[in-house]
Amino acid sequence: MALAIMDTNIRYGVVSKALHWGMALLFVWQFLSAGAHLLLSDTPVEEFLWGTHYTVGVLLLTLVVIRAVWSLLNASRRPPSVSVMAKLGHLALYGLMIAVPTIALIRQYGSGRALDVLGINLMSGFDGEEITWMTELGGLLHGELGWTLLALIVGHVVMAILHRKLTNHDVLSRMT
Ligand code: HEM
Ligand code: HEM
Repeated sequence: MALAIMDTNIRYGVVSKALHWGMALLFVWQFLSAGAHLLLSDTPVEEFLWGTHYTVGVLLLTLVVIRAVWSLLNASRRPPSVSVMAKLGHLALYGLMIAVPTIALIRQYGSGRALDVLGINLMSGFDGEEITWMTELGGLLHGELGWTLLALIVGHVVMAILHRKLTNHDVLSRMT
């Protein structure tokens, strides 16, 4: 069978699968660096992992925008959600995947510090007072919503396995 680029109503296509599993790997890395920042501060492990947090975070934000557009293009042909809860759960995952890095970038902008990612200058920074609503928003929400996203991902993985074990919905085969 030819490799399906687009999704069909029985399985996701190759682009959706690549985005799903590629981003899943990057999320594992991103939460390792966040965990090291929280628990292993001032160790070589933190120094190594934390050095990638901004870059991987910006990469994940870029990929989720592409993924959201792709999912809209495929909306009428993707495998149907197994329940309203599954649909809402996936929507919440998208919401947090977009909100968590966006809030970090708003904080970064408000701090007046420059931001370079993979040699590209995304923010040039500015002198003078920081923009407090921006830095406070990030201080309040970035880490908290980040850990909420991790909890939701754990729930998502558990539900994918439970659906396979307890019901006739082998949802895993749609995505593998
Ligand atoms: C989807 C992408 C991202 C995820 C899942 C994520 C997750 C997290 C988490 C869970 C923490 C809390 C660590 C702790 O409790 O000590 C954190 C901290 C932090 N993140 Fe991210 N992050 C992402 C993107 C970014 C980006 C793009 C930036 C920079 C522009 C950034 C900058 C920071 C900074 C400075 C902290 C330490 C201060 C704080 O706890 O808020 N993150 N991140
Ligand atoms: C071992 C890890 C993972 C497993 C086993 C897994 C499993 C699955 C399965 C079976 C589906 C298809 C569900 C259906 O058609 O109803 C799915 C879809 C989805 N998964 Fe995961 N997943 C994992 C990691 C992740 C991670 C880290 C994220 C990121 C937040 C994520 C976000 C999503 C989203 C948003 C969908 C809806 C389809 C889409 O728009 O891509 N998954 N996952």
